[in-house]
Amino acid sequence: MDPLAITRAIESTAANTFRLIFDPPVFTRGEGAFLFTERGEQYLDLVCGSATTLLGHGHPAQVRAISDALASGILHTGTRLLSPYRAALYERLIDVLPAHLDAVHLANSGAEAIETAIKAAMYTTGRRRFIAFEGGYHGRTLGALALTHSNAIRTPFEPWQDPWVSFAPYACNDAEAPEALAALDRLLAGAEERPYAGIVIEAVQGVSGVRGPSTEFLAGVAKRARHHGALLIADEIWSGLGRAGRWFSFQHAGMEPDLVVLGKALSASLPLSAVAGRAALLRQWPAGSHTSTFQGNPLATAAAVATLRTIQDEGLVERAAALIAPTLHDGLAGLSGVRVVGAQAAVDLPSSALCLEVQRKALTTERILVYGGGLAGQSLMILPPLTISLPDLQHALSRLRAIILRQVQRQES
Ligand SMILES: Cc1ncc(COP(=O)(O)O)c(C=O)c1O
Repeated sequence: MDPLAITRAIESTAANTFRLIFDPPVFTRGEGAFLFTERGEQYLDLVCGSATTLLGHGHPAQVRAISDALASGILHTGTRLLSPYRAALYERLIDVLPAHLDAVHLANSGAEAIETAIKAAMYTTGRRRFIAFEGGYHGRTLGALALTHSNAIRTPFEPWQDPWVSFAPYACNDAEAPEALAALDRLLAGAEERPYAGIVIEAVQGVSGVRGPSTEFLAGVAKRARHHGALLIADEIWSGLGRAGRWFSFQHAGMEPDLVVLGKALSASLPLSAVAGRAALLRQWPAGSHTSTFQGNPLATAAAVATLRTIQDEGLVERAAALIAPTLHDGLAGLSGVRVVGAQAAVDLPSSALCLEVQRKALTTERILVYGGGLAGQSLMILPPLTISLPDLQHALSRLRAIILRQVQRQES
């Protein structure tokens, strides 16, 4: 079997598999921060399955939890039957969530959890419209897509009959906050007859290039949401559970969101996402008003319990803030357009083409996997697992730095 040829021949071209190179490596084993091909070639993974595998690959706690769940022989039950793994996850989530959030709804992907939050906000407020922010990314199912700002991603599937999302400017720092808040005020002032159900925000915009957080802006948004009677919905799918150096990136600004949306690092392995909220929001809609077949799958929830416990036991949130962030800062010092928040860094490059070229060179010459993001695909993104050894990270950063400098110099000359 040739996985490359088969995938190239059959896979929907909307998938990203061949975006970078024609013949990407096929990995057959993972261990910690490294992935290995069948021939034993070792690659350093600074992509983490798009900011997902927070514990790296093959973490013993995760593997054990999934193996135990597997050994039970119950691989799927559906939500009509109780599951001990699901219950254990509810308990563990309540332990890590801020105290005011005491109810949880599980889903399978980030976008599905965003849809859940949209419906919960519509149901509880009786309103239908939302505010989202310029630069924000919330996923690609139709509801989540409507909240996603990028024209390249959203407009091929428009128009909707009655647009229900308004976009407001996002402030990346406190200096930009007053103008962005004034624009938000104008939107809200014009919405008295058709008020907003919710304001959806990433406290740190992750895939758009590690933008924010601005304490002043986020506090201002929270205040306005409350005043307007709109739910404050924090999308923590990318930055939550440690990636931003806090359990939740909104904690950088002391926000108290009504709904918090989690995904990616929640199980840090199998498909799983969640919306957390006050009981008054998530425990008043009738049974069956929002379900899906695989919601709360035993293996995925078992993995999530192990993941959250490991993040707690190994102090990984603190490690992201105290060790990984400074290492990223030091390793990227001297480059322009660098932003670091916790265990995520973005380096702005002159163009998306150059950013792709840097990713290609890193992959083919140094065997380092890095990500492309930013508002126009021009930001090189470095997303290590929170368990990475500092020497491995330092070595990779020095190699990436050299590639960036060489490529930028080549373009300028
Ligand atoms: C902030 C944010 N929200 C939502 C999503 C969508 O998640 P998923 O790809 O699991 O649907 C992503 C994915 O990158 C994200 O970064």
